[in-house]
Amino acid sequence: MNTKKIGFIGGGNMASSLINGLITSGHSASQIWVSDTNPDTLQSLAENLKVNITDNNDELVKNVDVVVLAVKPQVMRLVTEKIQNNVDNKEQLFVSIAAGISQASLAEWLGNDVAIVRCMPNTPALVMTGATALHANSVVSNEQKDLAENILRAVGISLWVEKESELDAVTAVSGSGPAYYFLLMEAMEEAALQLGLCEKTARLLIQQTALGAAKIALESEDTPSELRRKVTSPGGTTEQALNTFNDGGFTPLVSKALHAARDRSIEMSKELGEK
Ligand SMILES: NC(=O)c1ccc[n+]([C@@H]2O[C@H](COP(=O)([O-])OP(=O)(O)OC[C@H]3O[C@@H](n4cnc5c(N)ncnc54)[C@H](OP(=O)(O)O)[C@@H]3O)[C@@H](O)[C@H]2O)c1
Repeated sequence: MNTKKIGFIGGGNMASSLINGLITSGHSASQIWVSDTNPDTLQSLAENLKVNITDNNDELVKNVDVVVLAVKPQVMRLVTEKIQNNVDNKEQLFVSIAAGISQASLAEWLGNDVAIVRCMPNTPALVMTGATALHANSVVSNEQKDLAENILRAVGISLWVEKESELDAVTAVSGSGPAYYFLLMEAMEEAALQLGLCEKTARLLIQQTALGAAKIALESEDTPSELRRKVTSPGGTTEQALNTFNDGGFTPLVSKALHAARDRSIEMSKELGEK
């Protein structure tokens, strides 16, 4: 892994987090390349992370073993079609972190026998606590799969899905997921203020409770449902709140929301592929 040259096309938020994670986990900055259209972005990456920079995507592609496509989905077609002539089909791996761009579209724009891993990371990657699902096309070797997994693992956990279509469900679960927790925090904060707590106290209690619940869930063998039962005494305060959630249709509402997100992900993929 450390001997591989990794290039990032697009040096924005996601790429800089990945690069930071890679360097922190021992990858040499001299083995990392970044190309971007924004000179300020490049300058700041060179100064802060000491990586190689270029404003020329073709130059980057000619120099690296792995190309991480980290531009916005709307410019992906333009970017990939332009670099197509410099792709080394035999050796190179392309890792796309762009939401909604299918492997079929990427293969059409980059060249049909190109090794492509498509990923769906999420925003907590920006604080090294991301959750990423990956899917490889049939050209990707086992060694390339390990490489892709290691790159994404630099900013959190990464796991493989069997079918590319599962990435639409992943988008609905973990891609959009942070916003669901923020909504719950927002609603709890509003209620806490109504109950007489000040904003600062309410916010800190809610944030730490979310972190604590997530830690227990990650560290325990129990299912969420078992964990919930363990903290709910019959006739107690938690039971009162949970009954109120259930009476309001909380579980079917969550299901409806995730189905809506999954359907929108499918729709957006079609729109982006057609451009
Ligand atoms: N942020 C997240 O949490 C998150 C989560 C999941 C997936 N993703 C995916 O990650 C990708 C990157 O997102 P981001 O938030 O990091 O975006 P970003 O901060 O806007 O970074 C994209 C960078 O690419 C540059 N760029 C634009 N056109 C280019 C070109 N032709 N060649 C080279 N560089 C070019 C942009 O420059 P300008 O600023 O000058 O346009 C910008 O610096 C997106 O596809 C997104 O779907 C992001």
